[in-house]
Amino acid sequence: MEQAIIRVAQAIEQAERILLITGAGLSADSGLPTYRGLGGLYNGHTDEGLPIEAALSGSMLQRDPALCWKYLAELGKACLSAQPNAGHRAIVELQRRKPECWLLTQNIDGYHRAAGSPAERLIEIHGELAPLYCQSCGAVDPQLAEHLSRPLPPKCRQCGGVLRPPVVLFEEMLPERAIGTLYAELRKGFAVVISIGTSASFPYIVEPVLRTRQAGGFTAEINPTRTDLSAAVDVHLQSRALDVLPELLRHIQ
Ligand code: APR
Repeated sequence: MEQAIIRVAQAIEQAERILLITGAGLSADSGLPTYRGLGGLYNGHTDEGLPIEAALSGSMLQRDPALCWKYLAELGKACLSAQPNAGHRAIVELQRRKPECWLLTQNIDGYHRAAGSPAERLIEIHGELAPLYCQSCGAVDPQLAEHLSRPLPPKCRQCGGVLRPPVVLFEEMLPERAIGTLYAELRKGFAVVISIGTSASFPYIVEPVLRTRQAGGFTAEINPTRTDLSAAVDVHLQSRALDVLPELLRHIQ
């Protein structure tokens, strides 16, 4: 593992433009549940016998807001009860040393922002849990924690409409601005792309890795289990993000 970490560290050291892609596995080290794999949220069904992807879908939020919010509240409470870990902080330090190190995250927990990653180089492709906004009048409501301790679904103080978080629910479109930024940066190319704690379940997560590899860049994956990316990357560090990221920083001048 040591040699592999040094190889990734050397690639980072020689690179200007770097893209880090993170998923739920990075926040698993903060105690948050992942979605797939062992103990993942999506492996089970809801109390109502629905796949959780159905409960957390845009159409369910319209059809049965109380049911959708029952599971949104579970995610919200988990995120509010934990905090960023040393893996998030190692990424902040890497972005400080590398002014062209970009961060593409699928996580909605807001931990990269809370840990100090610069917002101008952070692409939150699945949005974030806060601030809530009203689907009827658009009013913004920053009080996620308070709403989670009251009857669901949360209602707008101005018009009584149902509030929602600015996350991408299943069946919903990705945020235009985030996708636009991602592809604008991809067009400039990256020398190094590292996938951290993601099952790489979406094309917009796999594509940056494969495009960089095809263009002759260096690619790596940090994940204790194998994924569809594992065979494609130059180095697969088969370990937890928390065990690798701080160690990686120690090998980068
Ligand atoms: N360190 C690194 N990786 C880990 C760790 C850890 N400590 N623990 C688990 N993993 C890995 C798992 O092996 C798995 O491959 O993290 C990955 C988590 O995969 P998912 O649960 O599918 O999470 P993610 O890839 O982020 O899912 C993407 O799916 O439904 C959407 O919105 C949801 O953003 C989420 C997206």
